[in-house]
Amino acid sequence: MAKAKKKLVFFCKECGFESPKWLGQCPGCHEWDSFAEAPAAGNVTESIKGRLPGSVHRTPAKLNEVQAGEEERINTGIEELDRVLGGGIVAGSLILVGGDPGIGKSTLLLQMCRLLSGQGHKILYISGEESPKQIKMRAERLGSFSSNLYVLCETDLGVVSETIADTKPGIAIIDSIQTMYSEDAGQAPGSAGQVREATSVFMRLAKSLPVSIFIVGHVTKEGVVAGPKTLEHMVDTVLYFEGDGGASYRFLRGVKNRFGPTDEIGVFEMCADGLKEVLNPSEYMLQGKPENEPGSVVTCSMEGTRPILAEVQALVCQTNFNMPRRATDYNRVNLLMAVIEKRLGVRMGDYDAYINVAGGMRISEPALDLGIVAAILSSYRNQAFDSKTVCFGEVGLTGEIRAVNLAEQRVMEAAKLGFKRCIMPKANSQKLNIKESALNGMQLAGFGSIYELLEVI
Ligand code: TYD
Ligand code: MG
Repeated sequence: MAKAKKKLVFFCKECGFESPKWLGQCPGCHEWDSFAEAPAAGNVTESIKGRLPGSVHRTPAKLNEVQAGEEERINTGIEELDRVLGGGIVAGSLILVGGDPGIGKSTLLLQMCRLLSGQGHKILYISGEESPKQIKMRAERLGSFSSNLYVLCETDLGVVSETIADTKPGIAIIDSIQTMYSEDAGQAPGSAGQVREATSVFMRLAKSLPVSIFIVGHVTKEGVVAGPKTLEHMVDTVLYFEGDGGASYRFLRGVKNRFGPTDEIGVFEMCADGLKEVLNPSEYMLQGKPENEPGSVVTCSMEGTRPILAEVQALVCQTNFNMPRRATDYNRVNLLMAVIEKRLGVRMGDYDAYINVAGGMRISEPALDLGIVAAILSSYRNQAFDSKTVCFGEVGLTGEIRAVNLAEQRVMEAAKLGFKRCIMPKANSQKLNIKESALNGMQLAGFGSIYELLEVI
């Protein structure tokens, strides 16, 4: 019998968008001339297919009879990682760890392997990038390893998946997905077609054995994992490891999680002997904060279940151009500056503005608004904002300060770190349910509008 011809599709090399025909511009990411032809995802290599244990659930189950229960989870021994995973590794799950090259993905996973193998789990670490010697050199910085950790340096997808099926480890690491190569996918290593093929093979392996598989994915210059859309859809969990190039802080962020929340972050510091967990990120984020300098304001953001204090810095100075510069990662800054201009009558159009959160953390919470407005005003007036005051709150278009969620936690965090005053939305302060003793002597101030800020700067 003739071998069935493999179905070919076109997909975008940048974002993985799939289409039955060639397109000049990708509807997904709007990149031009990025479509390439490749076999459809899910075409598992014949030799591998024969070895995969068959699926058992052939008859549909009645949902009301399905036993839910908690998934079985393995604690990694790294609290910050467990938190982002939603309480540990779920058996048979496929987890993508993305990030810039050199950010510390291999280091984090090797550290996890060290702890897990020490607990008696059988671990297989597959590297397509480094030799066993190089892995050993890195490992020596992290401490001693138990005999339960196996390494394999291989890039051939067939060999890798067969080794996983034969070795039957509890957890396998693929470092990195871009180095895996299968002839069936018919493209260069690292291309979106190859990455998709490899990911679909690992997904099947993970579910059928079962084995939990971590795949490392390097991020391209656009800040996305090669073929990210399809990759993100295919895996159970997506974690991104990010940080400021120069700084030693690293943030592990959950972007997708079929087994837990996605808003948690893990905070680490890169040290000479591997990544250290940062269990009190607020203290860490405020290290080196200038005292009583204009443009520096401490605010409180919620990252999942954790409040984190962070310093917002603004530099506002007269512009030399017709178009004032707005240099910031925060989309809301333009809007907030318009509100300041209109409501407070401050001529923002004549000024350049640079806004930053010190420490390289990306925050996208509206509760940051008040801190940004205060920092802008403080820099504009060249008047310091009291460095023992924290402020948080969402700013509306009429300059009103709107309530935010979880105000208690934010207030408590500020009190714990010894702040003397907390400026917050009036609506929050009226309903606050905190014992006087927990405030540590911190004063609370409920503000209704940004006019009131003018009095404290
Ligand atoms: P690595 O884990 O190789 O990054 P990735 O796998 O994401 O590409 O991290 C490499 C960087 O981390 C490298 O610049 C060296 C540094 N590093 C330390 O500072 N301390 C350590 O203990 C280790 C192992 C690496
Ligand atoms: Mg690496």
